[in-house]
Amino acid sequence: MRVKKAVIPAAGMGTRFLPATKAQPKEMLPIIDVPTIQHVVEEAVNAGITEILIITGRGKRAIEDHFDKSVELEILLEQKGKSNELADMQRISNLADIFYVRQKEALGLGHAVACARNFVGSEPFAVLLGDDIVHAEVPVIGQLIDIYKRKGGSVLGCQRVGFENIQKYGAVDAEDYSEPIVRVRSLVEKPKSAEAKSDLAVLGRYVISPEIFNVLAITTPGAGGEIQLTDALNLLARQQPVWAYSFAGRRYDVGDRIGFIEATIEYALRREDLAPQLKAYLKSLTFCE
Ligand code: UTP
Repeated sequence: MRVKKAVIPAAGMGTRFLPATKAQPKEMLPIIDVPTIQHVVEEAVNAGITEILIITGRGKRAIEDHFDKSVELEILLEQKGKSNELADMQRISNLADIFYVRQKEALGLGHAVACARNFVGSEPFAVLLGDDIVHAEVPVIGQLIDIYKRKGGSVLGCQRVGFENIQKYGAVDAEDYSEPIVRVRSLVEKPKSAEAKSDLAVLGRYVISPEIFNVLAITTPGAGGEIQLTDALNLLARQQPVWAYSFAGRRYDVGDRIGFIEATIEYALRREDLAPQLKAYLKSLTFCE
């Protein structure tokens, strides 16, 4: 079945990025001049997704405004003859059919995904975390959709993160790790480094079979007292194939301070209009050594 729907959870409290996220969504933190969540929506659209549900919550109105038409701004840009900027604003509000549902309490990623049940129905669907961006030749969610077409079941976007970092992620337990696609035996959310079965971590991109909703309905709070998507996927892996796919791409966790700084610098270094000046500036920072 074709994957045409995506869910973008964006209702988290962003406590790792306070105070910036006190009164604005962390998903709106800009990577230079493009909000993080716009990168995520564009990745989905570039992979052929046509319907997107963003899970929002209190204090997240700016996300809806961003993807809405801004009549006043468009009139102003037209009057000023700023046709490139006008075209860009119109493009953003026409990216895809975007729907919104509120997660009334931030009870965890699993709980956020469960809010998508009516939107998804009985189709396989994509999940892209609203604060994770990936620079890749082929959109990562498109890579996962291709694997799903070949293998069915559910597909988790993974990369090795080193055992010293695995306690921040969902960790994969598989029979062997020699191939880019491996069948998941089990999953553990935020394991201690010494207890992790591998350093293969689930990193913010998923194609999930709709049976997950029955599993989420019986998933109890796990790590951090939150209803964890990882725990539900662990149960699902006992019922049907769940694949861990090592995707090609450079991933950034924008909800983390260092991740945000790395993303800003590396995205700027990839831009022709900014790279020469930024490189010269970085070279001038000799006091860093
Ligand atoms: P994170 O765990 O990175 O988000 O969830 P968080 O809870 O906001 O993070 P900190 O630790 O407090 O800084 C990954 C994605 O899942 C969403 C977040 O908005 C983020 O995009 N999320 C998380 C929800 O939508 N609902 C939740 O209850 C939790």
